[in-house]
Amino acid sequence: EKIVLAYSGGLDTSVILKWLKETYDAEIIAFTADIGQKDELDGLEEKALATGASKIYIDDLRAEFAKDFINPMFQAAALYEGQYLLGTSIARPLIAKRMVEIARAEGATAIAHGATGKGNDQVRFELTAAALAPELSVIAPWRLEAFREQFPGRAEMIAYAEKHNIPVTASAAKPYSTDRNLLHISFESGMLEDPWFDPSATSNKDMFVLSVDPEDAPDQAEYIELEFAQGDCVAINGTQLSPLEVMETLNEIGGKHGIGRVDMVENRFVGMKSRGVYETPGGTILFTAHRKMESLTMDRDVMHLRDSLISKYASLVYNGFWFAPERLAIQALVSESQKNVSGTVRLKLYKGNVIGAGVKSPVSLYNPDIATMEADPTKAYDQGDATGFIRLNALRLKVGSGVEQNAKK
Ligand code: ARG
Ligand code: SIN
Repeated sequence: EKIVLAYSGGLDTSVILKWLKETYDAEIIAFTADIGQKDELDGLEEKALATGASKIYIDDLRAEFAKDFINPMFQAAALYEGQYLLGTSIARPLIAKRMVEIARAEGATAIAHGATGKGNDQVRFELTAAALAPELSVIAPWRLEAFREQFPGRAEMIAYAEKHNIPVTASAAKPYSTDRNLLHISFESGMLEDPWFDPSATSNKDMFVLSVDPEDAPDQAEYIELEFAQGDCVAINGTQLSPLEVMETLNEIGGKHGIGRVDMVENRFVGMKSRGVYETPGGTILFTAHRKMESLTMDRDVMHLRDSLISKYASLVYNGFWFAPERLAIQALVSESQKNVSGTVRLKLYKGNVIGAGVKSPVSLYNPDIATMEADPTKAYDQGDATGFIRLNALRLKVGSGVEQNAKK
């Protein structure tokens, strides 16, 4: 029997690897998606094999992540609960998609993951697997009583790792959990569980990874220009870039200026509230720039229609329904809405802020001749027309108000 395990090399998935092998007497194939977690990938292969994996796949999915996941999501202007740019949520369906491909290629019967039974990630992995490979079974050790009894806390896991010569890295000692990829890094649990704990305090500076504290950012603002073609950023400061390069470049610049830190209490799909801290430097710049590009080039009613779907779309991504028909249906509308979203946005980055500094487009819908407070040379708009426009719109308000006043008499 073969089991494919989503493996990060951290304490949990290392212990799980060994435990699966012992418990199911199965061959364990480890799989790590490189989605931009950088140094977390160092030494992974040796580690997986030393821990008992028969084989490890380390697949570079960064380009696909940027092009087929991040870009479509940013076209949708997705934001969960008004703040979260969905950095972890959007990565899960890609990891799970590749995992089921490997399971099929290897003839495995099951896939396994180290997500807990209390979180969103388990749902995202498993809904993706259900949509793409319904024949595979899923093993989620954290949801099995036997596993939880054997490992009631970290101490037992560390002891188990030591007993089996599983190398435990320094990150296992960190008092909080992180998840890093090309789009963001998240921090949860540990001291963050107290919502009154202040992550921005000077004493907590060392936690952050992708950005400097805005207070330590350069005193000199920096200008950047983002060029968009049909809703996607395709060039920065005049240099054409791939979607992956766009994210890398924006992360670098945004991190330097302390951009994109978010601290929130969010609603997990499984019903509980959870405190999360995020750094999304590049994504925050991209999100702001994209909206500014749309402001100039997108039809009003198309925009309002797309906007009406933002919270629905964001919940679909957050809840793990990336490969669901309703997400694809909304995506088709979003994609259509982006056909004219092309041009250039100029931004000024300054101590955690992304400040609009100009926008232009060859397909701009903005017409200063129409909007001007001076005489309109185009005669496209007759101010006199507004009288009837307001009168007709006021009709039902007047009728309604009259009825109300009569009722009071
Ligand atoms: N709360 C965020 C989300 O649900 C981040 C989850 C982080 N996941 C993790 N395994 N550390 O998208
Ligand atoms: C986990 O519980 O495995 C991480 C957090 C989450 O999935 O929401």
